[in-house]
Order: sequence, then C-alpha cells, then structure tokens
Amino acid sequence: MLTSRSSKKSSRKGHKRESIFMIPIVRVYAVIGIKGGVGKSLVSIALAKELSKFAKVGLVDCDIDSSNIPGMLKIEERMRPAPDRIHFLPINVTDSLKVVSLECMGLGRKCAAVTKEGKQHQQIIRDIIDMTCWGQTEILIADMPAGSSDEFLGIMSIFDHLDGVIAVAQPSTSEDFNRVVDLCKYHGLTMLGVVENMNGTLTECGVPAECPKCHKEFTPLGKDVILNICKEKQIDYFGGIPLTSEKIDFEQLPQSISKSIDNMLKKIIVGEEVWLKP
Ligand SMILES: Nc1ncnc2c1ncn2[C@@H]1O[C@H](COP(=O)(O)OP(=O)(O)OP(=O)(O)O)[C@@H](O)[C@H]1O
Ligand SMILES: [Mg+2]
Repeated sequence: MLTSRSSKKSSRKGHKRESIFMIPIVRVYAVIGIKGGVGKSLVSIALAKELSKFAKVGLVDCDIDSSNIPGMLKIEERMRPAPDRIHFLPINVTDSLKVVSLECMGLGRKCAAVTKEGKQHQQIIRDIIDMTCWGQTEILIADMPAGSSDEFLGIMSIFDHLDGVIAVAQPSTSEDFNRVVDLCKYHGLTMLGVVENMNGTLTECGVPAECPKCHKEFTPLGKDVILNICKEKQIDYFGGIPLTSEKIDFEQLPQSISKSIDNMLKKIIVGEEVWLKP
C-alpha cells in the first residue's frame, strides 16, 4: 500500500477524474495535517468559498468520524437522492459551491458516532465521492481527517489524481509539520504550501493581545515557528492566522485569514484561465 502511492506522481496536468458519472473534476486538492484540531476544516471551507468566486467548487468532508463542515457552515439540509434513486445530490451552498459530508446524508441521528473498520471506512468515503452527482465541478477540495496512517492512505487512494496538498500546522507542534513534510515526500505528494494557524493572537479589536504588565505580545501557541521551518526547507508559506475569540464569518473572511487564502488562490489559479469563470 505504501509503495503504490509513492510511485504515483501527484500532479498530472490535464488528467480528468472520470467516474460513473463522468465527473468533469479537473483539479483535486487536499487540506492535510497530522495533528487534530489545527484548523484543516477552517482552511478547507475558507479556501473552497473563496475559490468558488472563480470556479465551480466541490468540498468533500473526508472526516467521517467527526464531520465538522456542516456545523461550521451551518448546513441543516440533508443530501437528497438523485432522480435515479441511487446517487446523491450534493448540498448547494451557492451556485458554485457544493458540499458533501456523511453528516448531511441523514444516515443516523445528527452528530452520531461512527465506528468502522479500516476497509469500511474507506468504502464510505469512496461512496460519498463516487455516489455524488457532482455536475459541473471543476475543483474538488478534500478536507482530510487528522493522521497519516490507514485512513489517510485509504482516502488518498480514492483520488486517481491529486494536484497538490495544502498543509495546516500550529506553531506549538512544529514536529507534526515536519512529519507532514516527510509524508508528502514519501508519497510523492506535491505540497503547495502551508498555513500556520493559531499563530499569535488577535483581540476583538483586531490587534494582537499583549501582557498588560510587560506589554509583550501574548502568543500562547507560539508564533512564526512554521514560517522559520518553511524558510529553512524552502516551502511556500501562505501565511499565519492568529488565534481569535471571534466566530469566523465565512461570508466575509477577516483579513487575518483572507491574506493566507489569497496566497493559496494565486498558486492554485495561476495559468488556469482556460477553465476559470471570467
Ligand atoms: N485561528 C483560529 N482562531 C480561533 N478558533 C479557531 C482558529 N482556527 C480554528 N479554530 C477553531 O478550532 C476548532 C478546530 O478547528 P478545525 O475543526 O478547523 O480543525 P481540524 O484540524 O479540522 O480538526 P480535526 O482534526 O478534528 O478535523 C474549530 O472550532 C475552529 O473554529
Ligand atoms: Mg476537520
């Protein structure tokens, strides 16, 4: 299993994913991180939303143990069966953004726990992707669960091509970011770059928090640690997102997030005018 993926080159230009529904998905990107809770889903949603201003985007929640995307996007709607009664229609968040998640399939009660063996787990995600009528989706963003073992490998093997991965890391757990770098090298995945989430803090007034006594910046999880690793390893650094107490509004991304997302967009859409909307 380990070697089969490593022999594949992740970036195959022009290769189209074609399943039973002849999905015209031309690009697939995965948002990854070995550590849980670092902000993968947050970055996936923000990226999918912004990207959908330029292209038809699908966002697939590959985290079936703890699907957070519907909750973060406040999706109450359930996915409906397609007219053939076999396939599913994704949730249309907007005309150009479709979301698919096990949580939206109404297979159990809301927020139910899922315990599956490795193979079943992989099959569920494969079904979620292959049984969805994607329509005219040009870019698929896969929000990955934490980890680098069976589940990760299983999901990676579902995509017959992957155009790149975006890593999300925290300054406090830089060793996990080093593992992500290794993982990408080992499996031949193209890392487009990294976002350093929870990098420093931002108060509700939009300024970095500081100690009232010594006025030093309050950085509970550290700051710019990943930035320095990126400089050393020559990895693209999309930017740092500070820890904030405010609820993130995906309709109007705060500047502290949009800067990193803009840098991702520049890398993803460069040279792709052919299929992007005018
Ligand atoms: N910069 C931030 N400031 C404040 N809260 C944040 C920030 N980034 C993420 N969060 C919050 O932290 C929680 C975890 O984020 P998220 O779900 O995106 O992480 P994850 O890496 O996808 O987690 P998991 O590994 O469980 O899938 C969420 O409630 C999210 O809203
Ligand atoms: Mg997540």
